[in-house]
Amino acid sequence: MKFETAAIHIGQDPDPITGAVIPPLSLSTTFAQSSPGKPTSFDYSRSNNPTRQAFERCVAACEGGKGSAAFSSGLAATVTLLHLLKAGDHIICIDDVYGGTQRYFRRVASNFQLEFSFVDFEDLPKVEAAIQSNTKLIWIESPTNPTMKIVDIRQVAVIASKHDVILVVDNTFMSPFFQRPLELGAHISLNSVSKYINGHSDVIMGVVTWNDESLGQRIRFLQNSLGGVPSPFDCYLANRGLKTLAIRMRKHESNALKIATFLEKHPKVRKVLYPGLTSHPQYEIAKAQQHGFGGMITFFIDSNLEGAERFLKKCKYFTLAESLGGVESLIEHPALMTHASVPTQVRQQLGIDDTLIRISVGIEDIDDLLEDLNNALNAV
Ligand SMILES: Cc1ncc(COP(=O)(O)O)c(C=O)c1O
Repeated sequence: MKFETAAIHIGQDPDPITGAVIPPLSLSTTFAQSSPGKPTSFDYSRSNNPTRQAFERCVAACEGGKGSAAFSSGLAATVTLLHLLKAGDHIICIDDVYGGTQRYFRRVASNFQLEFSFVDFEDLPKVEAAIQSNTKLIWIESPTNPTMKIVDIRQVAVIASKHDVILVVDNTFMSPFFQRPLELGAHISLNSVSKYINGHSDVIMGVVTWNDESLGQRIRFLQNSLGGVPSPFDCYLANRGLKTLAIRMRKHESNALKIATFLEKHPKVRKVLYPGLTSHPQYEIAKAQQHGFGGMITFFIDSNLEGAERFLKKCKYFTLAESLGGVESLIEHPALMTHASVPTQVRQQLGIDDTLIRISVGIEDIDDLLEDLNNALNAV
């Protein structure tokens, strides 16, 4: 079954009693048992719920995996995955990881005797050199947020399997439509559903997908034991969003390519980072492992903090807000917003300076979006 068909049909069978074509929203927290300890399919909604299950099955098919587990946020999914480890274990994490993941790793998980190394994955020998006898997990994102570095997932998967280490790929920026990490050798693909999968900026949720059933069973056990599960209503909305993921992603991408090309030529722009531009340093890797280039663009304005702020305030259709992946275009200043929790020195090392702007290109009319950016840039 092709992606678009799976996104609409898997886990979405008509209701056997009423024939409802859309699986009903199942809000019940508990399910009647015909005899003690013998539930039919479900017993308690933290453990499993019909609406959540429909969503999880659909995501698993879209990621090309065997199973998925949904969580109350992308970060709840991250926290749950770290419980696969025990005190004394070591994690190698990409240095340019999402700010919230970085905050959790550096300021929370490290208090529980987990050891972290933050490594530049552009230099793969450095990754292999960072492996220790207690390394149990490698955590990467590709493209990274916000500097849009591309990691060669196939190559990292080779290193991970050689050392018997679990490889997690945060797939949020690409979504399963444009990138399927399990097919590239990763053990777990994680998505913040709050972004492209739901796609309408009205749900906070996360999901992880696996291919190995024994790993999946451990994750399901943790999902129930830790309890960071999403509400059925959010699962229902995310399930609806997933059905249009393919069509949305194509439009995000075609708008993004035109905007990236426009920005690259604009005199007030110093540099553009978009994996679909041949000028992107890892364009060839992106082409080889992705099925498209996505809707996220980072660029450096040829000015200073004041100029960046002036530009951001002038945008009309690009709403100044955190987050990404919704139908509406968003714009933000990582140093002051999404990545403010990243230590200043680390931000400087990563090149997240005061002139760096990140945009999540929406699916509005491209001429309106280009006009908006042009007007705002000309005000700098
Ligand atoms: C790449 C990435 N991963 C994970 C997360 C965390 O997801 P959530 O906000 O759903 O907890 C985010 C949120 O911005 C993100 O951008």
